[in-house]
Amino acid sequence: MLNFELYNPVKLVFGKGEIEKVSTLIPKESKILVAYGGGSIFKNGIYDQVKKALEGFNVVEFGGIEANPYFETLMKAVEIIREQKIDFILAVGGGSVIDGVKFISAAAKFEGDPIDILHKRIIFKEGADVVPFGTVLTLPATGSEMNSGSVVSIKATQEKRDFGGSAMFPKFSICDPTVIASLPKRQLQNGVIDAYVHVLEQYLTYPHEGFLQDRIAESILQTLVEIGPKVVENPTDYALASNFMWSCTMALNGLIQKGVPSDWATHMIGHELTAMYNIDHARTLAIIGPNLYRVLFETKKEKLAQYGKRVFQLTGTDEEIAREAIGATVAFYHTMGMKTKISENASNIENTADFIVNRFEERGWKALGERQNISLEKLREIVELSY
Ligand code: NZQ
Ligand code: ZN
Repeated sequence: MLNFELYNPVKLVFGKGEIEKVSTLIPKESKILVAYGGGSIFKNGIYDQVKKALEGFNVVEFGGIEANPYFETLMKAVEIIREQKIDFILAVGGGSVIDGVKFISAAAKFEGDPIDILHKRIIFKEGADVVPFGTVLTLPATGSEMNSGSVVSIKATQEKRDFGGSAMFPKFSICDPTVIASLPKRQLQNGVIDAYVHVLEQYLTYPHEGFLQDRIAESILQTLVEIGPKVVENPTDYALASNFMWSCTMALNGLIQKGVPSDWATHMIGHELTAMYNIDHARTLAIIGPNLYRVLFETKKEKLAQYGKRVFQLTGTDEEIAREAIGATVAFYHTMGMKTKISENASNIENTADFIVNRFEERGWKALGERQNISLEKLREIVELSY
């Protein structure tokens, strides 16, 4: 096992009816910016619950944070924070609102050009350099409620970039599984697949001696395979909703990544598909992941075989199981409503590989993956296989 440090200061408040506790989690004298997305919270009653819980607090609202949040939108909130002397931000939404709030929190006190936070991938470590924030999660998927990463899009240059650091953990996150009742089927499907691929990014690498990490990863995968198709049909079933939400948080709160190698190339490539064609984040992962495993088969086959045996109970030789495990993964994605080709999700896609390879070259990214063996040639192969 590799050496590691584990730090996660998020106070997670989980369960039915817990949104009302928000009043006990924010310092009383705070001036709060409540940030939200395109308005789903007004239709499903989450806004009313938050508003009621915050009675007596000094609250300013900022709405309109879009999916794959834009730098340009977030900068409007940064102005409000500075002008109105906001000292706490409450994100009420899914990964996009939470990631957006992480950026707002970091940019508000940043002395340089805020675009550099994304272009130079600045790491924020000091609490004093950011505005503290908490979250009320409305969409299980990203794990952003319990991690310190953020992904922000830049409209002007059609980019999607990430940043983070130990100061970017929420102070608290309230996870009430009943919020998923109003999610469209497409977003429920996306949530299951995003969490599933988060686990694969930290698991489908090469054999190491993180036995416990592997078993935890496999149990999250098995839980998602078991409940995923059901929760899409029955989002009001509390057993399904609560297990779905907890699986998503556990998939990317840092725990299973400790002491083991991790990949993340599927995400890096997938972000480009969102930037180019606005394909939902999870759907980009369902397209790229299986083709990445095919191209990297030789270096991933031992873990693919372990995954095939333990998660899908496949039998045969290790080589056969490893290959079938990729097929079983794609079949699961199809069950979850994913379309696993770029051409099924976008049109005029001929230049996709050129665009992505050029971009990675410009950024100086010569090799990706857990072994740093995804060269630009392999990258091209993965993207072209995905057409
Ligand atoms: O904007 P509103 O009107 O609220 O509608 C949203 C949005 O249209 C809707 N929604 C959210 N909660 C709802 C709801 N509709 C009805 N009922 C509810 N309870 O769902 C739509 C999608 O929301 P979004 O926040 O975009 O989805 P998700 O949580 O999947 O977040 C995706 C973003 O997170 C980033 C992705 O790249 C993408 O930008 N990621 C963040 C990560 C992190 N910080 O660790 C890791 C991930 O890998 C990912 O990259
Ligand atoms: Zn993801």
